Amino acid sequence: MKLIKIALTKGRLEKSIIKMLEEVGLDCSELKDKGRKLIFHDNINSVDFVLAKANDVLTYVEHGASDIGIVGKDTLMEADKNFYEVVDLKMGNCKFSIAALPDFKLEDGYNIKKIATKYPRVAKDYFRQQGMDVEIIRIEGSVELAPILGLADAIVDLVETGETLRENGLVIVKDICNISARLIINRASMKMKKDEITELIGKIQKYVEE
Ligand code: PRP
Repeated sequence: MKLIKIALTKGRLEKSIIKMLEEVGLDCSELKDKGRKLIFHDNINSVDFVLAKANDVLTYVEHGASDIGIVGKDTLMEADKNFYEVVDLKMGNCKFSIAALPDFKLEDGYNIKKIATKYPRVAKDYFRQQGMDVEIIRIEGSVELAPILGLADAIVDLVETGETLRENGLVIVKDICNISARLIINRASMKMKKDEITELIGKIQKYVEE
């Protein structure tokens, strides 16, 4: 059995990913009792796990430091990296939306709209497709602040429950697309560890369908 290295995204997705991995027969006991450790072993199968920030998951998988990654489609859309995206895990469901204060209208006036976002590429691509010229302002977090403080006219951000928007008096102007977690595979690993990886993909696919 060749060792399979899996990189998982820390945070919101963690719980549902671990549940899925257990359901497909992996031993996640170390992962569930993680303390400050960074690498976790499956004591039954030949599998190692790491927990990382979403962008780092992409980097590890692109360079083959991890064979498999689990990461949100939002991070994949924003990055320009090279690997196979194989399964839509249908978890971590949310959407990219444009949001603003209630009086904002996207098509109003001739001035170029200022759009604040953690996802400049996603925003740029979307407005280009719409034939709209906008100014994109990159923000690292709590993007909802930008229209409130008058930095931007609107934001492009992830919406899950809508609670953050509601609590800050913002409304959805338009939805852009749905987002969910995806399984990605390093290109070389797909060949070198074909049997192990296709077996795992098959089990995960089955879990998702059920
Ligand atoms: C995300 C997103 C919104 C919020 C949406 O931020 O950027 O702020 O979650 O979730 P909701 O619709 O359920 O309220 P995150 O919590 O990842 O933190 P950040 O803003 O610091 O990036």
